Amino acid sequence: MSAPPPPRDAAAAALRAFSEAFGGTPDGVWRAPGRVNLIGEHTDYNEGFALPFAIDLAAHVAVRARADRCVRLLSTHGGGVVELDLDSLSPDGAPGWAVYPAGVAWAVAERGADLPGFDLALDSTVPVGSGLSSSHAIECAVATALSELAAADLGPEDLVLVTQRAENAFVGAPTGILDQSASLRGTAGHAVFLDCRDQRIELIPFDADAAGLAVLVVDTKVAHSHAGGGYAERRAACELGAEVLGVAALRDVSSDDLAEARALLDPVTFRRVRHVVTEDERVLATVDVLRSEGPAAIGPLLDASHASMRDDFEISCPELDLAVEAARSAGALGARMTGGGFGGSAIALIPRAAEAAVRDAVSAAFGRAGFGAPDLFTVVPAGGARRVL
Ligand code: GLA
Repeated sequence: MSAPPPPRDAAAAALRAFSEAFGGTPDGVWRAPGRVNLIGEHTDYNEGFALPFAIDLAAHVAVRARADRCVRLLSTHGGGVVELDLDSLSPDGAPGWAVYPAGVAWAVAERGADLPGFDLALDSTVPVGSGLSSSHAIECAVATALSELAAADLGPEDLVLVTQRAENAFVGAPTGILDQSASLRGTAGHAVFLDCRDQRIELIPFDADAAGLAVLVVDTKVAHSHAGGGYAERRAACELGAEVLGVAALRDVSSDDLAEARALLDPVTFRRVRHVVTEDERVLATVDVLRSEGPAAIGPLLDASHASMRDDFEISCPELDLAVEAARSAGALGARMTGGGFGGSAIALIPRAAEAAVRDAVSAAFGRAGFGAPDLFTVVPAGGARRVL
């Protein structure tokens, strides 16, 4: 196995890109990480529980306030400088990745903040489209920066809502609060046990390394999008389920209620509901097991979560299923797709000693199936959004 390349210094890259494009130095550089969700998928918009962690891959933005109402945006991923007018921001006018910073600026301004125009350069180490929240990493870095530049004094919980508003109303993705909660509120060495009903969090120690384990990400490179399509359909099914069952949100249904629910719901809606209800319970069980036995014992819960997403919620795909199966057969303690589904990444909890075997097995299985080669890398829980320069 060849040694991985040294991590790119994204703060320095953003700084360099800023000076080249706009001249001089920025007012600061802010960073926000991507996330892996350990367990608790599609529970967030059902006011349930999730257990994500911020990862050691992050978006960095170098930003400088301007004296006028102009917004200039540059990404090291290409596309050149995008120029916008702060007072007429619209999704149609923000091409490509610019929709994320534009959406956040729009949502910060909507809060009544006195936001100045700004120049911004982005560099990110979160692989785009990997299902590791590359877009939320950008949004959270920008929100943290703009809140400071506008002296808006928004705390992490406000920033969670600002970025969710940007996603829902500007980007057009009807997503919940999972990703930004991890990115804004994560802490090194911990998973974020999140109650999506009231944004309460508890930091749960998650030190896989100390237990001789690692979290391996398998990025299938299968493209997915949450702006429309399957994600919105799943959300609508959950809302229908809650309405028929007469509860505020599926968070209020327990597995004891499922027999009754089956009689009231059409078969597809029932399976969507069963996923959410059992997934909430798996999150609570995972937190208990982490506390009592440690990370090595959570494998079966990860496996059950994947099965539920594959069979009941139907958001997996052949590449994700293969990644999970191949990792498990080669020694992973548990594995599941992570994030919204329909593509993106799977995670596998593996003994360090089995890392090479699992990597080889997954790559070989993809080759045999005729799938494109996946990207494989390990992640650890890292700190949340902050100013770095
Ligand atoms: C995406 C969304 C989140 C959440 C997950 C599924 O990542 O952005 O809000 O719904 O899917 O758990």
